[in-house]
Amino acid sequence: MKKGKLLYEGKAKRVYETDNKDLLIQQFKDDATAFDATKRGTIVNKGVINNEISRILFELLESKGIETHFVKQLDDRNMLMKRVEIIPLEVTIRNVVAGGMAKLLALEEGIVLDEPVLEYHYKKDELHDPLINDYHAKAMKLATDEELDFIKQRSFEINNILKSFFDHKGLDLVDFKLEFGRHKGKILLADEISPDTCRFWDKKTKKKLDKDRFRRDLGNVEDAYQEVLKRIIAE
Ligand code: TMP
Ligand code: ASP
Repeated sequence: MKKGKLLYEGKAKRVYETDNKDLLIQQFKDDATAFDATKRGTIVNKGVINNEISRILFELLESKGIETHFVKQLDDRNMLMKRVEIIPLEVTIRNVVAGGMAKLLALEEGIVLDEPVLEYHYKKDELHDPLINDYHAKAMKLATDEELDFIKQRSFEINNILKSFFDHKGLDLVDFKLEFGRHKGKILLADEISPDTCRFWDKKTKKKLDKDRFRRDLGNVEDAYQEVLKRIIAE
């Protein structure tokens, strides 16, 4: 599959057209940003690691009946995917209080939630991806009632699969962000699933093994991403 025109360049990925109008190529970069890109840097090999982690997790989810945009891995930085119309919602699922939820509600990071919390953030950098609810999403015509119901149900299913998968790898899946897209009448899981978009804490030591090491200048960022991949691959 040959790379065509650059369609879109995001903070962590580039998306290219292909000679098939239904398929796109997603290329993972080493660039890292945080806080609406006011903080910028590079995480050596991040693109390679996130491409591989996303491949493994998309394949895992597909094997459990979750439809995703993933088609196949092309090489160490590129994956082929179905072209979707992205629904501009960042769907966050939280199992443990951290980051945005700790700040919003003045809660201690690390409180284990009795049941997962789902949030929508409107994907709009200029507005700093504000927290919204179903009514806002409908008022803004971002998605229909049926689509929101499907997205919610899917997100909790994905959480169950990933939580149990990472538990077996000695990692707490603290929280993560998902994006969905429309493709031929269906809603597919899109974007990526990686230490850029999830929080992973070591089950025993609670050491952070995700992008918070970059956001909070904790050091050993590359090692943390490598460690997550290593754990995922380990039997
Ligand atoms: P938050 O606690 O900062 O709201 O982040 C929740 C989860 O979403 C966390 O696992 C990191 C991920 N995330 C993204 O993937 N992109 C973003 O722009 C932000 C703010 C968070
Ligand atoms: N990548 C996002 C940004 O640059 C935020 C984040 O993941 O913290 O704004």
